[in-house]
Amino acid sequence: MLFYSRAKRSVFSTAFLLAFVAAPAWAQTDVDPSKPKKHFTVSRPAGLSGADAQDIYDRIEDDMVAGYRLSLEPSARSYGRWPRYNTAPYRSAQHGERFVNNYANDLAQDYRLYERSGPMPAGSILVKDSFAVTKKGDVFSGPLFIMEKMAPGFEPASGDWRYTAIMPDGSLLGTTKGSGSQRMEFCVSCHAQVGDNQDHMFYVPEAYRLGAAD
Ligand code: HEC
Repeated sequence: MLFYSRAKRSVFSTAFLLAFVAAPAWAQTDVDPSKPKKHFTVSRPAGLSGADAQDIYDRIEDDMVAGYRLSLEPSARSYGRWPRYNTAPYRSAQHGERFVNNYANDLAQDYRLYERSGPMPAGSILVKDSFAVTKKGDVFSGPLFIMEKMAPGFEPASGDWRYTAIMPDGSLLGTTKGSGSQRMEFCVSCHAQVGDNQDHMFYVPEAYRLGAAD
């Protein structure tokens, strides 16, 4: 059982919002990553179970999606109808210690076979939405992370994936080969570590895969 206290709007620490494991070059710039709305505060933030994380997500999902939808990114509007590949939101060290979910569109239906799917077809879209729970238990929406498979030759270094990050207020942080492209380079280089064998896809940690034992 979780307990919530009412939240006021508050400015969230830029350093925390941008805190990725591999410190991105753009963390040093004057980018204002928006001031996400604090939703509420949970007790015992260090000990959140998968069910607790799901409970938080259920309460804020509509708000998160409403923010992402302010962008012009089509998948921000549609990903809520796509299958989710994780059983509950889980903390991702690689995405700023935020809780994340993994969604894939119909063309990317072989996502769960990521190690033997071969290259995903052009038009495949993988999306991660995210929220942060601070050490004090404050809950904030996080960015929407998107990988879209483009036509062959789009960008060999990224396996022809276009990386995009949408901030909680719908503003665009960056997109490969578009506005803020350099801010997406650390996404490309980390995902490239798994390379062409699994088409730059990491998939879901085993404990949170659909079909895995709880
Ligand atoms: C330091 C490594 C690292 C960085 C940097 C990184 N990712 Fe990821 N990404 C991962 C890992 C690991 C997963 C799967 C597990 C997880 O989410 O923790 C993943 C999963 C994803 C997925 C779901 C598809 C998949 O691979 O399973 C998307 C979409 C995604 N990341 C987008 C991004 C975007 C956009 C950025 C940059 C803003 C980014 N990532 C930065 C490591 C990274």
